[in-house]
Amino acid sequence: MYYIPYSCYFVGNTLTVKINIAIDGYSSCGKSTLAKLLSQKLAYNYIDTGAMYRSVTLYLLNQGLIKDGKILRETVIDSLDKIDITFRFNSSKNQSDTYLNGVNVEDEIRSPEISSLVSGISQLREVRQKLISLQQKMGKDKGIVMDGRDIGTAVLPDAEVKFFVTAELDVRSQRRYQELKSKGYDYSFDKVKENLLERDHNDTHREENPLIQAKDAILMDNTDLTIDELVEKSYQIVQETLNKMREK
Ligand code: DC
Repeated sequence: MYYIPYSCYFVGNTLTVKINIAIDGYSSCGKSTLAKLLSQKLAYNYIDTGAMYRSVTLYLLNQGLIKDGKILRETVIDSLDKIDITFRFNSSKNQSDTYLNGVNVEDEIRSPEISSLVSGISQLREVRQKLISLQQKMGKDKGIVMDGRDIGTAVLPDAEVKFFVTAELDVRSQRRYQELKSKGYDYSFDKVKENLLERDHNDTHREENPLIQAKDAILMDNTDLTIDELVEKSYQIVQETLNKMREK
């Protein structure tokens, strides 16, 4: 008798294999765009874990628990049980929106104010524990593309494919600057670059699950690649992995 792992199943006579894909990398390196497009190509669910840390930050800010950029740690821990984060598919955008306690916060969580506060919140152990546990539940049935900073190392260490995405700082800053400008925010290029540098530093130096490339992650430098080229390259790697699994 053959053992068929729970991530593999038959549709008619065809063996369908589902895997998890972990995508980590620095701020504004293109990982979310890659994750979104790859998930669409594979008909997988996309989980944006940065959106979850941003949602916690928005909740704490709205509750007055972040004062002058300072976090009231004890009250933060007490509030965690009151925070519910879900993703719901928005067919008009062909992607999921983030909901915080039932309210669509997709745009609000991308504001520069949240971007400047989220690093501090994501360093808190209790916040990470809560979100990692939620993310692991989301990944348990496979068929997920998840992006963040600790997906390949802490959230889904068994993911079948792991990518570590990077691009030069100036390229990342320019992309982020253009994105903010298109949304009507008036920030200088230098200010945007400063914020990215600060977040990179916080993400790579925090005690809890810092951003590092997992040993088995594939490095994807997209400084000189278009997004289409990055998606195609990643898609080929995923297909090779799926083919190998089907042959087993
Ligand atoms: O991917 P993003 O820029 O939307 O993430 C927002 C912040 O959340 C980022 O500064 C680091 C933090 N984060 C994290 O610590 N771990 C994750 N898995 C995802 C994001």
